Amino acid sequence: GLPARVRIHEVGARDGLQNEKTAVPTEVKAEFVRRLAGAGLTTIEATSFVHPKWVPQLADAEQLFPLLADVDAALPVLVPNERGLDRALALGATRIAVFGSATETFASRNLNRTVAESLAMFEPVVARAREGGAHVRGYLSMCFGDPWEGAVPVHQVVSVAKALLDLGCDELSLGDTIGVATPGHVQALLSALNEAGVTTDRIGVHFHDTYGQALSNTLAALRHGVTTVDASAGGLGGCPYAKSATGNLATEDLVWMLDGLGIETGVDLAALTATSVWMAERLGRPSPSRTVRALSHK
Ligand code: HMG
Ligand code: MG
Repeated sequence: GLPARVRIHEVGARDGLQNEKTAVPTEVKAEFVRRLAGAGLTTIEATSFVHPKWVPQLADAEQLFPLLADVDAALPVLVPNERGLDRALALGATRIAVFGSATETFASRNLNRTVAESLAMFEPVVARAREGGAHVRGYLSMCFGDPWEGAVPVHQVVSVAKALLDLGCDELSLGDTIGVATPGHVQALLSALNEAGVTTDRIGVHFHDTYGQALSNTLAALRHGVTTVDASAGGLGGCPYAKSATGNLATEDLVWMLDGLGIETGVDLAALTATSVWMAERLGRPSPSRTVRALSHK
């Protein structure tokens, strides 16, 4: 069976904009988040409190976050370490996300740490966030394939996933950072996680659409019982530290499928499409989302 309702975790303002070559003005980012909330998205990842030299695109987090005070949505932010947590908490963030890697190469390139060192870095972050009542998401990157290491064994992913949850993360988001997953692989990983004691209600999926598989992979996850799906408005995105990664599953493509299946999301597809068209104009190029293109050329 399929779920009656799906919670979309919108990542366009973070995963999308972190990959833009040109700096997007802070006020445009704030307006983007406001419009996303207006289209009915209830979880909107706003920005990252990472080192500004590593992701200059999001270096305005201190300026942006206060502009979102009146937005009626949960606004999680990425935090890699205690320095990032301090910055986020100082601004009143109540939902944070740490981001680990299933592979050593990506841990080193994205966090300048081994997998074990990055888990040690997250430990006080998760503990302090939870003590303060914050909700903690644990991202896990390279769950299916890695551009340097190739296919990633399921048992390796399960082991880091369990370690992240053992730190106290409330939920886990399985990242197909470079978009190489296919539905059978998704099913195999979800089954292996269940066998290792990780229940599906704590699992979200985060697909990038490099090979056009994101929607098929999402459907496989929904059939498995997953109800949290990450997507980015207009298909914005990629990852600056993973070569060949393209944008995430486009939120509009996801909503088109879920609407057709009669699965509730609370999202107004017309308002969302208008938001992505507006953002595409600000970025100076069309949205890669098929649904945005189809609906905006009617
Ligand atoms: P490092 O160079 O090892 O940092 O980087 P460090 O701990 O050695 O500290 C060096 C200096 O940086 C210190 O300053 C720190 O205070 C400062 P100094 O004492 O030299 O003056 N510093 C900071 N400043 C501001 N904010 C901070 C911070 N941390 C340290 N948070 C570090 C380690 C983790 C900081 C770095 O590697 C980093 O920022 N990485 C972030 C990379 C990133 O954001 N990648 C994209 C997000 S992941 C993703 O997109 C995948 C995902 O979408 C899922 C998927 O698709 O798979 C989530
Ligand atoms: Mg991503």
